[in-house]
Amino acid sequence: MIIEKISLHYFRNYEELFLQPHEGINIFFGKNGSGKTNLLEAVHYCSLGKSHRISQDQNAVMIGKKGASCSLTIKGSSVKNEIEIRLQPGVETVKTVWINQKKIGRLSEMMGILRCVIFSPEDLNLIKEGPAVRRKFLDMMISQISRSYFIALQQYRIAYNQRNAILRQARLENRRPDSMIADFEKEMAEYGQAIYRERKKITDLISEKGNEIYRKISGRETENLSIAYHPSYSWDDETESMEKLLEKNRDDDLRQGTASVGPHRDDLLLSLNHKSMKLYASQGQMRTAALSLKLAQMDIFQHITGEYPVLLLDDVLSELDLDRRMNLLKMIEGVQTFITCSDEGDLADYHNYRTYQVQSVQEKGKMTMTKAGVEMKTPVLHEPDFS
Ligand SMILES: Nc1ncnc2c1ncn2[C@@H]1O[C@H](COP(=O)(O)OP(=O)(O)O)[C@@H](O)[C@H]1O
Ligand SMILES: [Mg+2]
Repeated sequence: MIIEKISLHYFRNYEELFLQPHEGINIFFGKNGSGKTNLLEAVHYCSLGKSHRISQDQNAVMIGKKGASCSLTIKGSSVKNEIEIRLQPGVETVKTVWINQKKIGRLSEMMGILRCVIFSPEDLNLIKEGPAVRRKFLDMMISQISRSYFIALQQYRIAYNQRNAILRQARLENRRPDSMIADFEKEMAEYGQAIYRERKKITDLISEKGNEIYRKISGRETENLSIAYHPSYSWDDETESMEKLLEKNRDDDLRQGTASVGPHRDDLLLSLNHKSMKLYASQGQMRTAALSLKLAQMDIFQHITGEYPVLLLDDVLSELDLDRRMNLLKMIEGVQTFITCSDEGDLADYHNYRTYQVQSVQEKGKMTMTKAGVEMKTPVLHEPDFS
């Protein structure tokens, strides 16, 4: 899929921006803080309905403004769609999503319209940090190819929170938990199993494809990357159902403040030549592994849907040596890519791309973008109504 148009209005430091990106590689370069990542964030918003950073919706609205919008026109293999996100801060930020000018009722309806893969320096955390980062990676990936997965995640989370609330209340009042707890445990088991099955299936694909890509980027045939899904409950061993286990664990779970089993406790184990990467891998190996996971995600999307996603590479080129950088650029030929870097020179001898200079014009409090040295006009596609 290809993004044909991007239009931002009071989004972060963009007062207004209108951009028709190239079908291939688009390079955005400019000083720190000029708005490069903000642009990728806007694309991410239109893909998954939220930021890729740890950030509240209200922070995406330009300071002092009543609302923000980002809208994209996306050309898929057979259809064209327009997605628009509007944010209006208040006591709670109101977020609405519009597909082809119609407001949608559920976030799940936007999943899969724009599939994107984002890779940034923080993705090193996929290897270094705790399991939550890896679960988020899987969830964001699978949600883009399966709306039912996204819904299962939402339902699981609701049931999980309700069960916790019942347990807390029972402790507060020093009594047995409300009998309704059994219904929520049943739902946790049902949706939990659906989540596990999808995650396991995708992990096996990522492991196979990721290893192939790792070897290509690193040029090392002797290094084997493997990724395994580690569930906190063994679904394939039916001796005790998850529902029964949750019932049995109520007291312990109350003490811990969380259910001890379920997809919210699962993890991915990454190893290189059968050794845990978290414990043994070098920084460079971790970086290559993280990139391999993301490129595997891109290939799997293509394999499953018949279309490449849009690739967003945030500040990662300068961290790769020249060989790896060139290997990467070869691999993404034919994929619409947005690359941000501080220096155009990061692209070295690679010629097949279009550059944009991102500049913040401080005195006007406005940001501009120039394409091949020419300042771009910045009208909006639809004037949003924030009254
Ligand atoms: N809500 C906002 N309103 C106005 N400016 C913002 C807002 N959020 C972030 N910024 C500005 O955006 C800039 C950071 O943009 P970013 O895209 O992360 O930069 P970079 O080009 O380094 O990737 C900072 O100058 C910051 O002050
Ligand atoms: Mg940045």
